[in-house]
Amino acid sequence: MKIISVESYRKLSRLGANLIAAQVTVKPRSVLGLATGSSPVGIYRELIARYQAGELDFSETTTVNLDEYIGLAPDHPQSYRRFMQENLFDHINIDPAKTFVPNGLATDLDAECAAYDRRIVDLGGIDLQLLGIGVDGHIGFNEPADVFEKPTRAADLHPSTIAANARFFGRADDVPRRAVSMGMGAIMSARKILLIANGPAKKDIVERAFHGPITPRVPASILQLHPDVTVIFSEE
Ligand code: F6R
Repeated sequence: MKIISVESYRKLSRLGANLIAAQVTVKPRSVLGLATGSSPVGIYRELIARYQAGELDFSETTTVNLDEYIGLAPDHPQSYRRFMQENLFDHINIDPAKTFVPNGLATDLDAECAAYDRRIVDLGGIDLQLLGIGVDGHIGFNEPADVFEKPTRAADLHPSTIAANARFFGRADDVPRRAVSMGMGAIMSARKILLIANGPAKKDIVERAFHGPITPRVPASILQLHPDVTVIFSEE
């Protein structure tokens, strides 16, 4: 595991974008695992700028997102599908048919989750998975638990995650309580993992996740067992 500390969010975003750009350049048919939330916005901006400068081509790239809130339509202002459209997909030359986000409106959630895992396998697995980290150590919506949950599934959000995400919804009551989350199986099967964490609020959890014991109480700690993880941390 490589842990890189940088002094600014701008540097974190540039460095993160460098890794993703290198992946897409070396293997244009890459499968990228993508995240939402505030942390990756700067990376997505960098990737858009590089695409607009003619340095990057996403026409053969496929993306699979980590999660989606249950009950939000794809065009809901806080849905993760809409986030991805607005922050990345609408601004690059990716084929919309090659962008996958779980369907939070699926009537049969178990079938949706099983199909999502099957799709990742059928795509040949994830080449590079981008992750943020919650203050409770969650990755995707794999929250602290008694065991590491392997499959993609409908997951309950931890109270600290609901509180943290209230900033996007205006008030905690409006934050959906459940989400479809990619499981640890697909995440740990990714060939490379890039985790980004920024802000002083993430300092403690970065320390616990990557220098503490491996435990499902700190879900991101499982990444210590992955052979190719880069963590970029900025305190800004
Ligand atoms: C988002 C996701 C979450 C976030 C995490 C950190 O798709 O899977 O695990 O990465 O909640 O969110 P931010 O970056 O907003 O602090």
